[in-house]
Amino acid sequence: MRIGILPAGQALFSFIVDVFRIDGAARLVGTVSVSGAKNSSLKLMAVALLATGTSTIHSVPNILDVTIMAELLRRLGCTVDYNPDTETIVIDVPAEIEHRADYDLVRRMRASIAVLGPLVARTGAADVALPGGDNIGSRGLDMHIAGLERMGAEVTSEHGYLVVHAPAEGLHGTHVYLDFPSVGATETLLMAAVTANGQTVIDNAAREPEIVDICEMLLKMGADIQGVGTSLLTVNGVSSLSPVEHTTVADRIVAATWAVAAVMTQGDITILNARPEHMALPLEKLTAAGATVESVDNGIRVHINRRPTAVDIVTLPYPGFPTDLQPQFIALNSVAEGSAMITENLFEARFRFVQELSRLGAEVRTDGHHALVRGKPLLSGAPVEATDIRAGAGLVLAGLVAEGATTVHGIEHIDRGYVGFEEQLIALGAPVSRNVINDLD
Ligand code: EPU
Repeated sequence: MRIGILPAGQALFSFIVDVFRIDGAARLVGTVSVSGAKNSSLKLMAVALLATGTSTIHSVPNILDVTIMAELLRRLGCTVDYNPDTETIVIDVPAEIEHRADYDLVRRMRASIAVLGPLVARTGAADVALPGGDNIGSRGLDMHIAGLERMGAEVTSEHGYLVVHAPAEGLHGTHVYLDFPSVGATETLLMAAVTANGQTVIDNAAREPEIVDICEMLLKMGADIQGVGTSLLTVNGVSSLSPVEHTTVADRIVAATWAVAAVMTQGDITILNARPEHMALPLEKLTAAGATVESVDNGIRVHINRRPTAVDIVTLPYPGFPTDLQPQFIALNSVAEGSAMITENLFEARFRFVQELSRLGAEVRTDGHHALVRGKPLLSGAPVEATDIRAGAGLVLAGLVAEGATTVHGIEHIDRGYVGFEEQLIALGAPVSRNVINDLD
């Protein structure tokens, strides 16, 4: 939102917003390139806090969340230099860092909770505001808290902050069983454990490629972690870690979003830097929908020349089907041949997107955490509102299979996860533009 100024100098609070306008259906053809994963880069920046000195991270996408995380690290005492052209971030961590992560930054981004583990490990204390981020469900922190408590920390909640104190002798190793393979809790406990006293075992740990990426950076820094990529992580605490240089893993969600775009629009897209081994199930589903997925040099090519067939989806922790692709697959099914059942097991509020998709004429009925999608040949353009990053991507893709104009509002969400989304879409032949409009019109 911006504040408009009347010519006479009078302030007028108006809702001037950026929107994407999609002018009708298109077949997407061409090549796109995927950068490093948002959900890895942000955590790797937090990992850097664990070592005094200068760490360099490559393939860090030029998105707002990186700017927020960089500012958060600066306020903790670090010097941070991000070059958007080379997508490289240089983080200089002083010997002494602050332990308080401010409300005004943390509330804007869920990933800020990633500083919790490193702050306790480095300073013996952490005051981290309760995080914000996407509006996609309850997103509790109970497993982060229970794990830290088992490692000897005292955790309270005061005035909107999570306040953590490690014992004077530091955190100690323990055996933690996660109720659920939470990405965030696995990261917090991993980062807290690498310099704790003794051995920590994280049982039922998350196995996402982004967790493996964090482990790989920690191993380079001198951490002792066994079981990387499995649900049983064994961490032997070391006394200190050294700064390193690391390259972020490619974004599997962005890569798969392009793959869905190819299939929905009956197009042909080559996705450079895509790591098919990290998106095996989504690619399997696209193949079942009728697409051809081929390996090419440094990426994949996804193409189809008929209307896709509907495919059922059940979201689960990795290597299950990612919740971050659920809206895109609902959009795909809304123009597929046949009907599909979508089951969402991670974020209950993600089906809010369905209401918006219905404005485009999609036939979707939800019941609890199930959605039944009946495909139709073409949607019908309308104004819609993105409520989170992935819902936004799903709505833009839906606009590309709709007759007439679609205006997607709330695109600041899309900007948080997709670098240069409209430029890449335009390069693929999509009739997309970013427009500034007055939302009160
Ligand atoms: N949960 C708890 N207690 C906890 C931790 C998690 O109840 O202590 C619940 C959450 O409420 C949620 C579920 O467990 O219902 C999953 O949470 P998880 O910790 O696995 O996810 P996260 O760390 O909050 C990350 C990504 C999400 C992605 C999920 C699942 C980041 C910054 N976010 O969230 O990404 O959907 O893992 O893969 O890494 C996105 O990029 O659009 C996005 C939302």
